[in-house]
Amino acid sequence: MEVLYAFCWICILGLVLFQGSADLVEDKQALLDFVNNLRHSRSLNWNETSPVCNNWIGVTCNKDGSRIVAVRLPGIGLHGPIPANTISRLSALQILSLRSNGINGHLPSDFFNLRNLSFLYLQYNNFSGPLPVNFSAWNNLTIVNLSNNRFSGSIPSSLSNLTHLEALNLANNSLSGEIPDLNLPSLQQINLSNNSLTGVVPKSLLRFPISVFEGNNVSFENIPPPTSPSTAPSSEPNPTSKKSGRLGEAALLGIIIASCVLVIITFVFFVIVCCSRRKSEDAYSRKLQTGEMSPEKAVSRSQDANNRLFFFEGCNYTFDLEDLLRASAEVLGKGTYGISYKAVLEDATTVVVKRLKEVSVGKRDFEQQMEVVGSIQHPNVAELKAYYYSKDERLMVYDYYNQGSVSSILHGKKGENRTPLNWDDRMKIAIGAARGIARIHSENADKFVHGNIKSSNIFLNSQQYGCVSDLGLSSIMSALAPPISRAAGYRAPEVTDTRKAMQPSDVYSFGVVLLELLTGKSPIHTTGGDEIVHLVRWVHSVVREEWTAEVFDIELMRYPNIEEEMVEMLQIAMTCVVRMPDQRPKMPDLVKMIENVRPIDSENRPSSGNRSESSTPPATMIGREP
Ligand SMILES: *[C@@H]1O[C@H](CO)[C@@H](O)[C@H](O)[C@H]1NC(C)=O
Ligand SMILES: *[C@@H]1O[C@H](CO)[C@@H](O)[C@H](O)[C@H]1NC(C)=O
Ligand SMILES: *[C@@H]1O[C@H](CO)[C@@H](O)[C@H](O)[C@H]1NC(C)=O
Ligand SMILES: *[C@@H]1O[C@H](CO)[C@@H](O)[C@H](O)[C@H]1NC(C)=O
Ligand SMILES: *[C@@H]1O[C@H](CO)[C@@H](O)[C@H](O)[C@H]1NC(C)=O
Ligand SMILES: *[C@@H]1O[C@H](CO)[C@@H](O)[C@H](O)[C@H]1NC(C)=O
Ligand SMILES: *[C@@H]1O[C@H](CO)[C@@H](O)[C@H](O)[C@H]1NC(C)=O
Ligand SMILES: *[C@@H]1O[C@H](CO)[C@@H](O)[C@H](O)[C@H]1NC(C)=O
Ligand SMILES: *[C@@H]1O[C@H](CO)[C@@H](O)[C@H](O)[C@H]1NC(C)=O
Ligand SMILES: *[C@@H]1O[C@H](CO)[C@@H](O)[C@H](O)[C@H]1NC(C)=O
Ligand SMILES: *[C@@H]1O[C@H](CO)[C@@H](O)[C@H](O)[C@H]1NC(C)=O
Repeated sequence: MEVLYAFCWICILGLVLFQGSADLVEDKQALLDFVNNLRHSRSLNWNETSPVCNNWIGVTCNKDGSRIVAVRLPGIGLHGPIPANTISRLSALQILSLRSNGINGHLPSDFFNLRNLSFLYLQYNNFSGPLPVNFSAWNNLTIVNLSNNRFSGSIPSSLSNLTHLEALNLANNSLSGEIPDLNLPSLQQINLSNNSLTGVVPKSLLRFPISVFEGNNVSFENIPPPTSPSTAPSSEPNPTSKKSGRLGEAALLGIIIASCVLVIITFVFFVIVCCSRRKSEDAYSRKLQTGEMSPEKAVSRSQDANNRLFFFEGCNYTFDLEDLLRASAEVLGKGTYGISYKAVLEDATTVVVKRLKEVSVGKRDFEQQMEVVGSIQHPNVAELKAYYYSKDERLMVYDYYNQGSVSSILHGKKGENRTPLNWDDRMKIAIGAARGIARIHSENADKFVHGNIKSSNIFLNSQQYGCVSDLGLSSIMSALAPPISRAAGYRAPEVTDTRKAMQPSDVYSFGVVLLELLTGKSPIHTTGGDEIVHLVRWVHSVVREEWTAEVFDIELMRYPNIEEEMVEMLQIAMTCVVRMPDQRPKMPDLVKMIENVRPIDSENRPSSGNRSESSTPPATMIGREP
């Protein structure tokens, strides 16, 4: 009897396994049928004999490697119509990107077999003919981009059945007829510009900017007289514009005058802000240079013997506070917690002096915190050499790193003597910083928090590994960076709410630093326009919607054979910046994960043969964000 059971189980198991691999074999064949029947000018490594998952360019499988869930082939030079009964056989497909190719012909009707399809990118092709009439079967569609083709016919009203639809781009086609009432609350983006649409824009779409309907012959019956000159579409005969001609002129004049005044006010404001800023900075450095700064006064006034520069044990510096104040100082940077100066003493010793602004704790707590910080001795943690506390002045003294911070190396001016960081350098920075932060987290019974991890607080040690500075200040300082500053780009979501940094929020900030190293972009930056881009959100959107490769720093593209490592690092960074703090990895685990990506140095490594567990599917995990 038992033998029979066992036999049955083996049968069932075998069936399941066979079923799984059979699906994949069938998926693979479908792709081969697709590519063998469509001319393409760039070569694909789609070899029949090689495994399809984690190997074929542009193909992503699901977690257990049983089905193909994403096909991304942008700009492969595909030419001709999509062969029938090929792509449509990939019934588990969720993401299809064939954008920027030369595909022509109709959108295949058999695409409706792709019931799970959620992201469809076909923009910049030569598709023609009508859109499918019945979109209802594609109820998973979330983002649809069919822009820049030659689609004609009308926009099907069945689009209103797509309850998950978030973005629809049909711009630059030849669509005609009236715009259907797409009453979709989840719809966040639509662009119908440059078609031949007519009639009245339905109420449900009036919440979108007028520009998305530009280049059509449509009217806005329910819109009040011209809102502003920049948004009023010039090509549209607006039925209400005749009646309100005079009003329009008056409004226009008003708007012009108002904008002039606004420009002047803004200009004056900027001049004032800039001047006062420069003045105050000059004053700071001059005072620190000439010694007329408050610490000395404080010392002489109170004659308190305890108000002296406190050096940590083992520190071989010989200067005292007077020397420090006499040293020539140069502003290095204005941080979240104060201004840093480079001070060169008379004996040519160079140190970094950090002047803290508002400290929220008393002398005892401050000293206690400094003791903890000063006790951490690690090759990847910048050593606090000395500190000073008086009623109106708090100073911290660090070694000076002459290569500057990782932020300045990464984002500094691209001059002739600035060599881009290569991949090895970036990996060494990442590993070093991870080790340093892990060491910091082990302090105070595994409870110590860095609180201010960002690339401008990471330097290169003598071995060119990352070395972390500026730790332990968040708990004794009251400052929080303003919401649109570079520093704010490192802040975990929960810190914005609670204003309390914890170890998981350090992990988040470290993840942002990793993304910075991978993308070469600042955590908060502006694009060509004035749009503010948050690095984490941007990476999420690129990874979700398009090809992962587009995330990486162009300067890294010149180094061969690093894609896999970059993808692994990207995965690690993405696990650090997940929203829920308790889902982020712990620093010691992160150190292991990063060391597994590349065995750069052999010391401290258990063995070099354990790479495999970290090199599991590079693209599946980041294939689609929930
Ligand atoms: C496919 O791979 C096999 C070995 O893995 C190789 O012999 C063959 O030449 C490859 N075919 C193509 C078309 O690249
Ligand atoms: C579609 O997606 C769902 C959820 O991810 C999954 O359970 C289902 O098996 C998929 N369908 C196919 C045909 O793969
Ligand atoms: C698109 O198709 C038209 C007409 O068939 C052709 O003239 C044009 O060159 C095609 N464009 C591209 C980019 O293939
Ligand atoms: C697609 O929609 C079906 C039905 O609504 C759902 O069961 C399935 O999970 C969806 N698939 C995906 C990948 O979201
Ligand atoms: C559209 O397709 C859905 C699902 O396949 C079906 O239920 C519905 O009847 C179709 N509607 C029309 C008008 O063909
Ligand atoms: C669709 O494609 C156009 C052109 O490439 C692009 O500008 C736009 O951002 C895309 N829209 C969506 C919703 O992806
Ligand atoms: C889809 O939309 C069409 C037209 O709006 C409608 O006739 C049809 O009943 C809808 N189908 C489903 C399944 O909701
Ligand atoms: C439409 O095409 C024009 C030029 O051909 C281009 O500048 C514009 O960005 C396109 N619009 C969209 C939404 O892709
Ligand atoms: C519309 O298409 C024409 C021709 O492709 C292009 O020159 C124009 O810039 C487009 N307009 C918009 C608003 O995209
Ligand atoms: C829609 O496309 C036009 C060009 O075709 C572009 O100027 C406009 O910014 C786009 N609007 C949105 C919301 O994407
Ligand atoms: C725009 O549509 C109106 C009617 O809605 C029509 O009288 C007019 O000729 C159209 N203009 C163009 C340029 O097609």
